[in-house]
Amino acid sequence: MRAVVLVGGFGTRLRPLTLDIPKPLLPVANVRLLGHVLAALGSAGVTEAVLAIGFKPEPFFEAFPEGVCAGVKLVYAVEPEPMDTAGAIGFAARFAGIDDTFIVVNGDILTDVDYAALVTFHRERGLEGTIHLIPVDDVTQFGVVESDETSRVTRFVEKPQPHETTSRYVNAGTYVLEPSVLARIPEGKPLSIERVVFPEMVADGQLAARPSDDYWVDTGRPETYLKANLDLIDGTRSLILASVAAQAHIHATAVVTHSVVGDSCTVGEGAIVVDSVLLPGSHVGAGAKVERSLVMGRVNAGASVTACVIGKDGMVEAGAQLTDVKIP
Ligand code: GTP
Repeated sequence: MRAVVLVGGFGTRLRPLTLDIPKPLLPVANVRLLGHVLAALGSAGVTEAVLAIGFKPEPFFEAFPEGVCAGVKLVYAVEPEPMDTAGAIGFAARFAGIDDTFIVVNGDILTDVDYAALVTFHRERGLEGTIHLIPVDDVTQFGVVESDETSRVTRFVEKPQPHETTSRYVNAGTYVLEPSVLARIPEGKPLSIERVVFPEMVADGQLAARPSDDYWVDTGRPETYLKANLDLIDGTRSLILASVAAQAHIHATAVVTHSVVGDSCTVGEGAIVVDSVLLPGSHVGAGAKVERSLVMGRVNAGASVTACVIGKDGMVEAGAQLTDVKIP
């Protein structure tokens, strides 16, 4: 089976980290986000993934010189201009010549959903598309889905106010689609699957939904990217990864707690790192304190950062005390 993986977004909410590395290539517990996604798809029987790339394809070519990630063969579909979600799916599926049932995933979602079970469910319902749903407390930031007792979607409303719907189930960013859906996506122009194509499929009675309460996180915001990292080291998920990369340099007197430390990081004498992610190559100076933060650049000696995002070119001056800021 083939999958289209959407990796072409700008990742604005994760800036400044995404100024240097596209979101799908950022490490989550020292494994690239895309590696996690493709490993899960591969174990569900996906043998080929078409990466729908909207801009900056070079980092992807460099990251996977053999054209393989987590054992899954890669096809690169590079859009001439960003096509939005449906436009990107159409472009990628046509580019790869997809002519059979296929999976679509947002490349920034980490989930333990059973993709194979989703495909089986889709085939049983026999509609043009099936969408994976998860329950959330606050629906206002999501595409909310209402469905009937036969699992047919009756309404799809993007980012509603709380009083506009009674459903708590939202679009989880994984779909199973028939190739006939491509006829709904005109070639060569940007189009949103959430705002245009899904509502049209609902109107035609052609969209099914399968809820599950599997582990699910959209890694696209600093807080959720941090959570995705920590969930992989602290036993929240069935998979537990090592939190410190083999090539990290942590001083014997530094204290690193509930944090992920990447390759070639340095953590100086007496430094404290708590509930944080130090991305590869970052530096925490002697006596510095890093709490609930994402660090790609430098936190110099004696500085203290809390709930901050420090990009590759970001530098926190020695002794500075920062809370809730992004640098640069
Ligand atoms: P923000 O800029 O922080 O909103 O992140 P984003 O650009 O990734 O946007 P969002 O999270 O809403 O996108 C959902 C999924 O669609 C992600 O996997 C994106 O990579 C992908 N995506 C969004 N727009 C495009 C596009 O124009 N082309 C392609 N190929 N993928 C896209």
